[in-house]
Amino acid sequence: MSGATTRGTLTRRGLLVGLGAAGGAGAMYAAMGALGLAPDRQSTDYAPPRASDFALRGRAGAKVVILGAGVAGLACAYELGRAGYDCTVLEARDHVGGRNRTLRHGDRLPEIAGETQEAKFGEGIYFNAGPGRIAQWMITLDYCRDLGVPIEVFVNENPSAYVYTSGMAAPIRARTARADTYGYLSELLAKATNEGALDRRLTGQDKELLLDFLSAFGDIGDRYAYAGSERRGESTGGPPSLSEVLGYRIGRTVSFGLAYDQAMPMFQPVGGMDAIVTRLVDAVGKDRIRTSAPAEKITNRPDGVEVAYKGGSVRADYCIAALPPNVLARVPGNLDRRTVDALSTPKPASAGKIGLEYRSRWWESDDHIYGGVTETDLDISHIWYPSHGFHGRSGLVVGYYNTGSDADAYARLKHAERQRRALDQGMKIHGAKYRSALASSVSIAWQRQPYIEGAWMAWPSYEGAFSLLQKPDGRVYFAGDWLTHLVAWQAGAFESARNVVTQLHERVLKES
Ligand code: ALA
Repeated sequence: MSGATTRGTLTRRGLLVGLGAAGGAGAMYAAMGALGLAPDRQSTDYAPPRASDFALRGRAGAKVVILGAGVAGLACAYELGRAGYDCTVLEARDHVGGRNRTLRHGDRLPEIAGETQEAKFGEGIYFNAGPGRIAQWMITLDYCRDLGVPIEVFVNENPSAYVYTSGMAAPIRARTARADTYGYLSELLAKATNEGALDRRLTGQDKELLLDFLSAFGDIGDRYAYAGSERRGESTGGPPSLSEVLGYRIGRTVSFGLAYDQAMPMFQPVGGMDAIVTRLVDAVGKDRIRTSAPAEKITNRPDGVEVAYKGGSVRADYCIAALPPNVLARVPGNLDRRTVDALSTPKPASAGKIGLEYRSRWWESDDHIYGGVTETDLDISHIWYPSHGFHGRSGLVVGYYNTGSDADAYARLKHAERQRRALDQGMKIHGAKYRSALASSVSIAWQRQPYIEGAWMAWPSYEGAFSLLQKPDGRVYFAGDWLTHLVAWQAGAFESARNVVTQLHERVLKES
């Protein structure tokens, strides 16, 4: 049986989004509670603008220039376009989608102050370099339904995947780690209960009910002692010692799947996350979107907005700035000083991923892992196995998905070095085939993506700047996941788009 040292911890590898490390998930939950929002649902009382809203007013919509063809910008164009607004979308990059990026053969990936990679994947292989999963309560799925984007299950948790904590001689299956952890925890709590340590908290009946729960939860029988369990899925005799099991450090991994935004079942679009972008673009109309057109100046005027961009300029009644705040804050123009300060308040977070294409699906044939995530305390954090293409000839594994300083450390390397380091780490879990079966790879460091410069934004608090930017500065509105409590989710981008579209439409109806 494997051992575990006390070095490293799986807990520090958590995703820190939204309020960031300073606020933490509890603070985010409190902020949402203050707004009367339950964290596991999004408002559905959205009334989309309709062309018929203008029936008695003698005009149809207004002219709107949207900066950024990421999910928020495209969703604004989609919602306004359906009501007859004349939208123009300006995208700084040479392709649409923003962080919703699916890489396939031939795609090029330049980096700020870095090299340009080109994906060499085989036919049918794709890499969701940005968003990869959607929770079932997110309005992203409503858009998938509306737009005709087929979806399939994304396996976010798999007991057959591994847990690997630094110092373990070998990885162990998540089911084994959980069985041992729950078993010993149950034993300890049952002992404390039986020895009277909890008498001040528990009535006699509480004790009975608790023991009954623990007996089942930890599979410790009515002797209330953990002696292993068939749940471990291993026939190597008894479990390791309590100390060794505590050394698994699986607190974060077992709680991750309980999170309101990470619990199974989760979903992904069939064929790649960018199906959402493709369908949005079809609905908006390609002719309304200009790529390679970074905004160079935004001028608010009493009667309209003027946006100068590389290669031209647009005049419109309104502007929706749906680009990252850190990038927008640098665009010259006459936005209010307080607006610019507010845009500079949330800080971009780092995150990176590497897509490892393999010539065989050894994780299925050898390891019997069909989707899901191996959790590690290594600098790769996670290994994701594909939730599609089962039993195909080849496939793509996400060899790291890391954040913070781990993501920064990988970002500093050239791609070949990132790959080498990711393989060295992954081999601790999967052995030599992890290197020998590799066909190709691509890595992304979101903080180095031109005109994006971050994986997502972390707010110091949801007050002040966050509130200010919910409202327009003159005729310029702001949209993006970073303006909602669903930071780092497409659902946040859609929600923000709906907020802005609603405000803008109300104003246009009033003014017309
Ligand atoms: N929403 C992102 C994820 O699930 C942060 O990984």
